[in-house]
Amino acid sequence: MTPLTIHLNDEAATLALGARLARSIMPGLHIVLHGDLGAGKTTLVRGLLRALGHAGAVKSPSYSLVEPYALPDMTFNHFDLYRFRDESEWHDNGFGDYFGPTSVCAVEWPEKAADLLPPADLDISLVPRGSGRDACIKADTAAGGRCLETLRLLSADAVWRPEGSVDGV
Ligand SMILES: Nc1ncnc2c1ncn2[C@@H]1O[C@H](COP(=O)(O)OP(=O)(O)OP(=O)(O)O)[C@@H](O)[C@H]1O
Ligand SMILES: [Mg+2]
Repeated sequence: MTPLTIHLNDEAATLALGARLARSIMPGLHIVLHGDLGAGKTTLVRGLLRALGHAGAVKSPSYSLVEPYALPDMTFNHFDLYRFRDESEWHDNGFGDYFGPTSVCAVEWPEKAADLLPPADLDISLVPRGSGRDACIKADTAAGGRCLETLRLLSADAVWRPEGSVDGV
């Protein structure tokens, strides 16, 4: 399935993409978020969580590595694995138990635990371009594909660029 590339002019556009993503996801979905420090991964998760009904703060769980949110319709687990060390940490914290059919998991720095994470449904990369970011969203499973198709429809009113990416709103 063709990836979706969207240009995000500013922080508000990243939050808005998160809100559109919230309308496309379903429990069980596993999303990985790639991008350098400061790329906008947490901002995207913040947009998602707000749209899913979370009213409080959303900070990257830099030291606890995971922050679970009990939302009205699902449990949402936000991982930041930047400081993840080794396999024993994975097992000692029971991280594998966070993944399952009733929860959504969004994982920053998935490459730090690449051999331990279950396969992702959606793969999102954020890359700086100009003063904004380009978001590239790929589906790796059928469930991810359904989510991506919905997201594509929800993004259709954004301005199409000549090379096929769209301006986020
Ligand atoms: N589309 C955008 N254009 C410009 N700035 C943005 C955009 N999206 C987010 N930002 C800004 O980028 C900064 C870093 O964002 P954020 O904390 O989400 O990055 P991160 O990828 O989670 O970083 P880390 O890897 O350190 O956790 C914030 O100041 C945020 O406002
Ligand atoms: Mg972050």
